[in-house]
Amino acid sequence: MRFYLTTPIYYVNAEPSIGNAYTTVAADIVVRHRRQRGDETFFLTGVDEHSTRVYRVAQEQGLDPYEYLDQIAVRWRELPERLNASIDFFIRTSDEGHKAFVREFLQRIYDNGDIYEGLYAGFYCVRCEAFYAAEDLIEGKCPIHGIDPEWIEEKNYFFRLSAYQERLLKIYDERPDLVRPANRYNEARAFIAGGLSDFSISRAGQPWGIPLPWDESQVAYVWADALVNYLSALTYARPGEDLRETFWPVVHHFVGKDILRFHAVYWPAMLLSAGYELPQTVLAHGWLLLGEEKISKTNPLVQALNLTERYGGDAIRFWCARAIPFPQDGSASLESIGERYDRELANDLGNLVSRTTAMIARYRGGVLARAPGEGAFDAGALRETIVGQFDRYDITGALESIWHAVRALNQYVETNAPWNLAKDEARAADLDRVLYDLVDGLVAVSVALAPYLPDTVPRILDAVRQSEDLSLDRIAAGVAEAAAGIEPAAPLFPRVEEPPEDAAATA
Ligand code: MSP
Repeated sequence: MRFYLTTPIYYVNAEPSIGNAYTTVAADIVVRHRRQRGDETFFLTGVDEHSTRVYRVAQEQGLDPYEYLDQIAVRWRELPERLNASIDFFIRTSDEGHKAFVREFLQRIYDNGDIYEGLYAGFYCVRCEAFYAAEDLIEGKCPIHGIDPEWIEEKNYFFRLSAYQERLLKIYDERPDLVRPANRYNEARAFIAGGLSDFSISRAGQPWGIPLPWDESQVAYVWADALVNYLSALTYARPGEDLRETFWPVVHHFVGKDILRFHAVYWPAMLLSAGYELPQTVLAHGWLLLGEEKISKTNPLVQALNLTERYGGDAIRFWCARAIPFPQDGSASLESIGERYDRELANDLGNLVSRTTAMIARYRGGVLARAPGEGAFDAGALRETIVGQFDRYDITGALESIWHAVRALNQYVETNAPWNLAKDEARAADLDRVLYDLVDGLVAVSVALAPYLPDTVPRILDAVRQSEDLSLDRIAAGVAEAAAGIEPAAPLFPRVEEPPEDAAATA
């Protein structure tokens, strides 16, 4: 199968936060799982550079916007790398290929008669980059950001969204999987059924953005520019190839629930107008909250790059998948990163690998005999369970299933006490079986964990001298091979020094 996965493209008005890392991590976990299933995948992420806020931040810093962008884009480019995310392309909306494609795309909509000129007056929230009707404001403030909107009155071009209401409803009725999970589908459908108003797709008198092909005095509205990235990237990510033939429309958009409407209503209507098929799924996930707060990019404590620096990309991925139940909302604490690191990664998993390798080195001179026993858990059942969970995008549930197996392996060590078996020559075959079952279980668990801990898993497989093949069918009993040269493994998750409290406050 073919599987194209996208993250939103992030606003670069500040450094990446752990909240932004969250979407990228979740998407990468899913795309890595699909690769294990043998799918042909493409994974896209990147940055959204034409927002008014970016322009203003550059001005505040006394920089030319492009100068500012080149500085900050480097930090965002680092994000997937530091999170060990396996992206195929990193798009910037200032890429020439993107700009040219957006102009062509909007021209198609214009030629189809879906764009007209009108006068716009309304409340605009620069943080949402969206207009609000007076009745949608809460005490005069943006319902999402709680800030004062700006009153904007200008000549704009409008997209005839209203003309797509019936078609969208029909498609929603035919395709209950278009938006997931079901509560988000219901929310988007209700929004459409409530009546759609045309929206402005341009901004006048603004130097920042992509000029419209039919009227260069206006630039594309930032969302009309940004959404198109999902298609534009396919046209120039691999020079000489048009990946639209391979990956459109097998696309799955991962987005936060705050930008559901743009992806589940505006974007499908724009695609219909421009003559493209609709995405396979829009998956809207909840917010990762710290306490009750949605995480803001300007707090250095929650800056994703600082956190990956301290704990490593894999530990941050693990925490994102485990701390709150994807794709629901949930509240976690930053302390729980360190706590899970010590208790689950270093202890449950890291120690299991250290103990297993140390025992093989000590009792068997580093040689593993092929001696399947009863096994510590049912690996085949684990495989089936997690496939079902991934099909429901339940990456938190799948990780919990895998962790049951990790705990079962630890329990297996305690129950079978290999150190006692080693004292008794008559029980040599039992010891071989126990050691084999441990390595065999470790292989299954490692392959299952590979989407979550892509940097760590090859090190585990190497420590037990097993193949690094990560195909899903290796989550099965009896896959481990006889091996030699196993040495006590170095700790997978060495102790992380917590910063002193006062440093944390100012970090
Ligand atoms: N630029 C737009 C998206 C354009 S896509 C064509 C945008 N950018 S953003 O930087 O504000 O947010 C990008 C993503 O980060 C959204 O999916 C948003 O939900 C996610 N998150 C930001 N903070 C978050 C949390 N605290 N928790 C989970 N995700 C959150 O919107």
